[in-house]
Amino acid sequence: MDNRIVILTGAGVSAESGLGTFRDKGGIWTKYDLAEVATPEGFQRDPGKVHEFYNARRQNCAQASPNAAHAALARLEERHLGDVLIVTQNVDDLHERAGSRRVIHMHGRLMRALCAACGETWDAAAVMSPEDACPQCRAQVTRPDIVWFGEMPYQMDEIYEALGDADLFVSIGTSGQVYPAAGFVQEARMAGIRTLELNLEPSDGTSAFDEVRHGQATDIIPSWVDEVLSGR
Ligand code: OAD
Repeated sequence: MDNRIVILTGAGVSAESGLGTFRDKGGIWTKYDLAEVATPEGFQRDPGKVHEFYNARRQNCAQASPNAAHAALARLEERHLGDVLIVTQNVDDLHERAGSRRVIHMHGRLMRALCAACGETWDAAAVMSPEDACPQCRAQVTRPDIVWFGEMPYQMDEIYEALGDADLFVSIGTSGQVYPAAGFVQEARMAGIRTLELNLEPSDGTSAFDEVRHGQATDIIPSWVDEVLSGR
């Protein structure tokens, strides 16, 4: 039995909630320049533009609802007799709103603000601006609490520890193009853990998985969860 399950999720799990993916046709990085809106250098050059980008994404997120894939993963955590940990690259809060409790946001969270001066974090206002003062140190270098390219993702020690202890690693809705998350499957293989990919199409790392299933997240995730819970 797969007692301890570590699940990596990406933009594909939220696609059917209406939140755009990054690299698919019409994806976010086909419309915006990543260097301008998702790097510390881009923020230094034009903080207003970066806030505008994330303000729009925060608004989309607030208007979106969790879908059947998020709900199935929450059901898995609630009913599975072993441990379930979600490690998400997504900055939306749809896993939590579906009821998942153990969620690591390795790329940060849209709904949180971060002071670039002192590191304090707090609940983000719906519309943030570079002039927002930090509630702790009063500096006016407020940014979204998002991990940008060139920065270290959050809670990596905890993630690698969970991977080392897992019985099953599942990757859902991610293209496998962004490291370190794209390397988790190799990490799991080296630890002798079974690996499963659930995605619309083969990811970049698809050949590294023991098993691969393709389809829409709202179809393939609920049926996989049913299988796990029924012990099949
Ligand atoms: P991508 O846009 O790179 O990949 C999304 C994946 O989801 C693709 O492989 C799609 O085939 C798949 N997909 C799309 N719709 C789906 C559906 N309905 N059901 C199942 N799968 C579907 O997004 P990520 O891999 O999440 O980082 O991107 C990783 C990181 O790159 C993001 O966290 C973000 C981005 O730049 C930062 O901003 C730091």
